[in-house]
Parts: sequence; structure tokens; C-alpha cells
Amino acid sequence: MRASSVVIFFVAVAISGKTFAATLKNDVVQKRFANSTSCGGLLTAEEGLIEYKLDGNYQADEVCIWTIRSPFRTGINFTMNRMGFEAQFDGVKLWRVSKYGISRAHYFSNRTDVPEEGYVTSSVAIVTFHSIYSVQGKGFSLSFRATPDTDYSFKHFEDYNKKASGSEVVTFRYPENLPYQNLEFSTFTVSRNTGDPDNNVELNITSLHLEYEFSGICKDIIHVYYFRRGMSYNDFSSVTPLDGVCDTSQVVPPIYHPGYYYKADAIVILLVTDEQNTGEGYELSYRYTTRN
Ligand SMILES: *[C@@H]1O[C@H](CO)[C@@H](O)[C@H](O)[C@H]1NC(C)=O
Ligand SMILES: *[C@@H]1O[C@H](CO)[C@@H](O)[C@H](O)[C@H]1NC(C)=O
Ligand SMILES: *[C@@H]1O[C@H](CO)[C@@H](O)[C@H](O)[C@H]1NC(C)=O
Ligand SMILES: *[C@@H]1O[C@H](CO)[C@@H](O)[C@H](O)[C@H]1NC(C)=O
Repeated sequence: MRASSVVIFFVAVAISGKTFAATLKNDVVQKRFANSTSCGGLLTAEEGLIEYKLDGNYQADEVCIWTIRSPFRTGINFTMNRMGFEAQFDGVKLWRVSKYGISRAHYFSNRTDVPEEGYVTSSVAIVTFHSIYSVQGKGFSLSFRATPDTDYSFKHFEDYNKKASGSEVVTFRYPENLPYQNLEFSTFTVSRNTGDPDNNVELNITSLHLEYEFSGICKDIIHVYYFRRGMSYNDFSSVTPLDGVCDTSQVVPPIYHPGYYYKADAIVILLVTDEQNTGEGYELSYRYTTRN
């Protein structure tokens, strides 16, 4: 393990000169307003609206995951304008997503025509909607608006929000072109197709090379979470230790997850990097699979 850490360190230094090539990418995706009427997706904007099956009926066993990014803002305020079902069994939840990980921020409590507020104190939020097998109802309308204050503790980001469908194995590498950047906070989400409760996402991390010190202390890290719908407080559970992980040696055998425990409705990976040196990044494979 020591020997490989030395190699990684020097590789990281050698390639760190090229880090600004992808900087512009972040500027291009910023929008003032973004809408979604589909089950899950990525909304990068200062303001936006999710209207999911508002005047229709959702089905049993749905899982939808939206990633909301309000670039370099300190928080995002949400307003549930309308919600056509009773909470407890089915629900819309807000999650705070920061460099420390994912934590629950709000659970919209019940069917209402009176708007209900919720907020996260981070520039990234995850919104989840799930239904269980028995109940069905009408959907919801949820709007959001970033708080005006800015937070430049991170300078770069890139977000992915994917759906797994079909049984073929999909491989994904982050970043596509070496290396990742300094002061970066990026997210990757993959969730199962909705309305198919017997199928789930299976994911392995096949390669992980982030910067770490000679002593073996991680400087850049990923956090890995899996999501299983339910009534419990923590639908998101961390697969990685609290401090995150940074090298393949820490996830060997590959995070064969969630096959080892359960198969999950979704997997989320957060990349958090410090202000100097970079590394190769990570590679993973996932597929849509049947629950055992
Ligand atoms: C999003 O939805 C709102 C409200 O329905 C609408 O006023 C606005 O034009 C939409 N914006 C975009 C970018 O689609
Ligand atoms: C939601 O509201 C209904 C009727 O208004 C009530 O019967 C139910 O207990 C409420 N559920 C929760 C979780 O508060
Ligand atoms: C966001 O919500 C918080 C907490 O309710 C509130 O203090 C703040 O004024 C809100 N900000 C905006 C821009 O609406
Ligand atoms: C994950 O790894 C296990 C064990 O090597 C393998 O059986 C499975 O097919 C892999 N799944 C994916 C999606 O790569």
C-alpha cells in the first residue's frame, strides 16, 4: 500500500499542470431557471420547478431522484406548492449534499394545498420521491430558489444523474479526460427505472486513484451512498467510512455493492478534492438487475 501511494503521488504532480482545460464546462451549464416533469434528473439553476405527475396518478413502487445544483450558493429554499398524497408511506424528501456527505433536511409531511417550505444549507440538494407497493395518488409541484449568498469554497463541479435500464453492464469513468480538478465538488447518481420494484441497481467501483499523502492519509476523497426507499429516517446509507476513501486498495474487493447487502434503488457518489494536486479519478460499472 505504501509503495502504490508513492507512485500515485508523483503521477498526480506530473499531470496537475493541465487542470484548467475543463473549467469552462461549468459555466456553460449554468441556467437561471430549470424545470422537470420527468422522474428524476439533473437541474442546474438558480431557480426551478419539479412537477411530477401533478394531475396524474403515480404508480406503486416508484423511485425518482433529482440532483439540484445551484452553483456556488450557500443554500437552496424549496416550496411544496401542492402534494396529492398522504405522507408516511409515500414521500418527497430533501437531502443536504455537502463535502461531509448526505443528510436529510426535510420530509414534506402530508397532502396539502397550503404551501410548505423546506431548505438545505448547501449548494447541492437531492430531492427524492418514492411510493410503496400499495398506495397510489396524485403527484406534486415543488419549486426551488437558491439563496443569494455565494460560497466559493469549491471552484469546480460536474454532475451526472443517470438511469440504469437493460441488463448490460455500463462503465463510467470520472473524469472522462484526466485529471479531475482542485477544489472540486462533483456528484454522480444512478437510479433504477421507475415502476419496476423487482429490479435494482448493482454497482462496482473498479478503479479509484485520488491524491493521498505518503502517510496514507486521503487528500481527495469520494463518499459512496446507496438509497433504498422506505419510511426510515435514513434512506441514504453510507457505504464508505466517514472520512471517505481515495484508493483502489481501500475498496478491494471492488465495492461490490449493493449486491453484498441489498441491491439498491440508487447509488450516489460524491467527489471532494482539496486545493492542490490531483489524481486519475474513478471508474465504475453498473447494471440494472433483479433482486435476489
Ligand atoms: C418552467 O415552468 C414555469 C411554470 O410552469 C414556466 O413559467 C417556465 O416558462 C418554464 N421554464 C422553462 C425554462 O421551461
Ligand atoms: C395526513 O393527513 C391525513 C388526513 O388529513 C391524516 O389522516 C394522516 O394521519 C396524516 N398523515 C401524517 C403522516 O401526518
Ligand atoms: C430561505 O429559507 C430560510 C429558512 O426558512 C429563510 O430564513 C430565508 O429567508 C429564505 N431565503 C430566501 C431567499 O427565500
Ligand atoms: C460486480 O462485481 C461482481 C463480482 O466481481 C460481478 O459478479 C458483477 O457482475 C459485477 N457487476 C457489475 C455491474 O459490474
